[in-house]
Amino acid sequence: LNNGLGRTPQMGWNSWNFFACNISETVIKDTADSLISTGLAALGYVYVNIDDCWSAPSRDMKGNLVADPRTFPSGIKALADYIHEKGLKLGIYSDAGAFTCQVRPGSLFHEQNDAELFASWGVDYIKYDNCFNLGIKPEERYPPMRDALNATGRAIFYSLCEWGVDEPALWAGKVGNSWRTTDDINDSWVSMTTIADLNDKWASYAGPGGWNDPDMLEVGNGGMTHQEYRAHFSIWALMKAPLLIGCDVRNMTTETLEILSNEEVIAVNQDPLGIQGRKVSVSGENGCEQVWAGPLSGGRLAVALWNRCSSVVSITARWETLGLHTSTSSSVRDLWKHEVIEENAVESFEARVDAHDCRVFVLAPEVSYSVA
Ligand code: DGJ
Repeated sequence: LNNGLGRTPQMGWNSWNFFACNISETVIKDTADSLISTGLAALGYVYVNIDDCWSAPSRDMKGNLVADPRTFPSGIKALADYIHEKGLKLGIYSDAGAFTCQVRPGSLFHEQNDAELFASWGVDYIKYDNCFNLGIKPEERYPPMRDALNATGRAIFYSLCEWGVDEPALWAGKVGNSWRTTDDINDSWVSMTTIADLNDKWASYAGPGGWNDPDMLEVGNGGMTHQEYRAHFSIWALMKAPLLIGCDVRNMTTETLEILSNEEVIAVNQDPLGIQGRKVSVSGENGCEQVWAGPLSGGRLAVALWNRCSSVVSITARWETLGLHTSTSSSVRDLWKHEVIEENAVESFEARVDAHDCRVFVLAPEVSYSVA
């Protein structure tokens, strides 16, 4: 969507994956504080997004949405002020249907009213869900909120949460700043790998202003190993997915923080070229030795060697699969080890990768001029 937002994938935090409906203004404020104190905010994680369950079960007498008085007694405006004072941005959630998935009032046919209310509260982002949609096509339900948000004059990031049902990549580029391509992620290796593959299909539709969204990060929630979380973060970064942290940032382990804070991997995600990396080759049993890659600005390439096998393997990335001329010489920098592993690789490079782990590299090929 050409509204000036999302020129690189959005970064921040969302309440759903860890807290589900157990949210409150205290949780949101403490999370904002932690994003600052851990250094995550300074790395770009600026959106603090409240998911479902923030609102009261019904609208007020004037038809306005209201924050649940038990959990958000100070209201959303006060929360937005608090978040803005910290230099962060506030996201909220509603639904392109009669109700949200947790049966709070939805925004279908209330788009203008709700968009104006959100803007008056100082909201910077809206995630728009797909429950209770009355069987109306998403292509009809999602644009009215875009137009209503635009009419407020406030810059509000528009995140479509249509679950990939009606292939949103094909039509949402003009509607939202990102669109979910799949059903909900859960905190498991099977879910994460399945979603990565499904999202890959739509790579060519992503770009500055509009991104494929394979759902929020599960890093730090406990259901995967350190290697699996590193793979999850690496592939999400390479796929130009939104980097929305989904764990409890108030209580993170050092390992979790280390993954989420990898500046070099974040830079791949936030590269100004904005081209989604994709799976470029598979080998080994059941295709478990994988190379994922994509172009970066400055003629560089991001290359991920992803071991989806159950034991350690050595994976080779070949110049031909990466679209490089075989004689091109390139440096190869390991973004998890933070060191250059080869200065002048030609034709290919290979590396050992632990089971379920993923190593990410940046290739900076030498510029070669052909003499005519
Ligand atoms: C379904 C969405 O896909 C989830 O991300 C989350 O927003 C829940 N609904 C909330 O009910």
